[in-house]
Amino acid sequence: MYLTFLHVPAPTFYQYGDKLFTFAQVGQWVVVVRAKDHVRDFYNAPEDVLSMEIAAEELLQLHHTVGRQFCDETYHIPAIKTSLNQNLAEILPKLVDEIERGFIDVVDSKLGNDGDWKPIRALDAFTRIICRSSNRVFVGLPLCRNDDYCKLTSHFSTNLLVCGPMIKFLLPEFLRPLAGIVFRAFFRHHERMLKHLRPLIRDRQNQRAHGGSEMNDMLTWLMDTAPADNEYSTESLAMRMLNVNFVAIHTTSKTFTHALYHLASKPFYVPILRAEAQKHLDDNELSSWTKEALGRCVKLDSFLKESQRLNGMGALWMPRMAVNDFTFSDGTKISPGTFVATAATAIHEDEEIYERPLDFEGFRFSTIREQRNDPKDHDNFEPDSDDDWKFRLTGTSPHCLPGRFFASLELKCLMAYLLLHYDVKTPVEGVRPPDEWFGPTSNPARNADILFRRIF
Ligand code: HEM
Repeated sequence: MYLTFLHVPAPTFYQYGDKLFTFAQVGQWVVVVRAKDHVRDFYNAPEDVLSMEIAAEELLQLHHTVGRQFCDETYHIPAIKTSLNQNLAEILPKLVDEIERGFIDVVDSKLGNDGDWKPIRALDAFTRIICRSSNRVFVGLPLCRNDDYCKLTSHFSTNLLVCGPMIKFLLPEFLRPLAGIVFRAFFRHHERMLKHLRPLIRDRQNQRAHGGSEMNDMLTWLMDTAPADNEYSTESLAMRMLNVNFVAIHTTSKTFTHALYHLASKPFYVPILRAEAQKHLDDNELSSWTKEALGRCVKLDSFLKESQRLNGMGALWMPRMAVNDFTFSDGTKISPGTFVATAATAIHEDEEIYERPLDFEGFRFSTIREQRNDPKDHDNFEPDSDDDWKFRLTGTSPHCLPGRFFASLELKCLMAYLLLHYDVKTPVEGVRPPDEWFGPTSNPARNADILFRRIF
């Protein structure tokens, strides 16, 4: 049993072998799942037994911080699972266009024209670019470039992820509603979101009333998916859009920044990945980029996946709260109210699963895919021709993460654009900015600079 505030090294989790064990976090115990059979039991448990929603609600005190409506309505999930995923080819040109504009405004504006290396504060820069490009698909132009809207949507997750646990762990139950009122009055997330979205929603409603909207974005899909009595509730749509931004922006920004730190500290990957991008993507015609062409960038896919393997979201993933009695297949019982989570780092660094698990091997997964496909003919390798989903970025987990196809597309476009236009390196050659840990949660270094230079 451990009480920890800082880094939780994966070996901490190995000493218990394949057994379930409890882990002390500030304010609560968590049952940790690592062995294959336990992980399978965990994934197969239905929501009304091991609940993700209730775990998130409890950990982030969502009913106090953002209110019941944020938790209770969930129609953004089908909008992501069906409409967003079905429209990926359609939205791709807009996404790439906004990524280019984002790089021009956020990166090029710092580089000037002298061709010298210049420092870019990576996490901040890419959170801004990713917020813009994601929102080009969520709400379109011009709102996706509005400064206040971008600050609001990208800071929302940070505010929630910091203040929610503080309210839970520092305050007694009776003071939490009061803290929630202060949180809401101070940040005014919902009100500010309403201010930005109200005119847009009215406009869409008018278009729909006069024969349908031409728009193909998240706002339209939310309006299509909302229960009939909610379609015209501006409040509800604004809340859903906050939720979509909450799940999409910080996860993608952290994942991209981790990969950038790997690339910049191991720049020998740059020419190989750049050559692959040049082979499949036309740099002079960004609107010609397709899902299929990006799918052929198998080394890039592998590089991003390897980065996610070694530098994910932290030591414990996918928290669940037992809402009914649950029995694992080995007979271990847990009772309602117990938190359960998977030992993500320990699984990703397990030498029984990965060879040389602590080494970053950017082409670990593409090599496996190539060998499974046709070891003799890598040039004609056909990435989508077999059942190699496990070795792709989108196959990160047997659990169905609704945003993974969009996230994967966005990450590849961002990295391909970067490779085609910039050289990158770390200020101290070969030294990757160290991750920042708080308890079992990890983040890419927040204040690290990466040196950028335009290549033409
Ligand atoms: C690299 C980026 C991303 C990572 C690493 C990531 C990871 C995750 C994880 C670990 C969960 C929790 C799953 C669980 O506990 O079972 C989750 C949930 C979710 N993600 Fe993502 N995600 C990413 C991007 C996105 C994007 C871009 C979207 C939307 C466009 C999205 C939408 C969602 C939604 C809606 C849920 C909640 C699912 C539910 O309630 O059933 N994610 N994601």
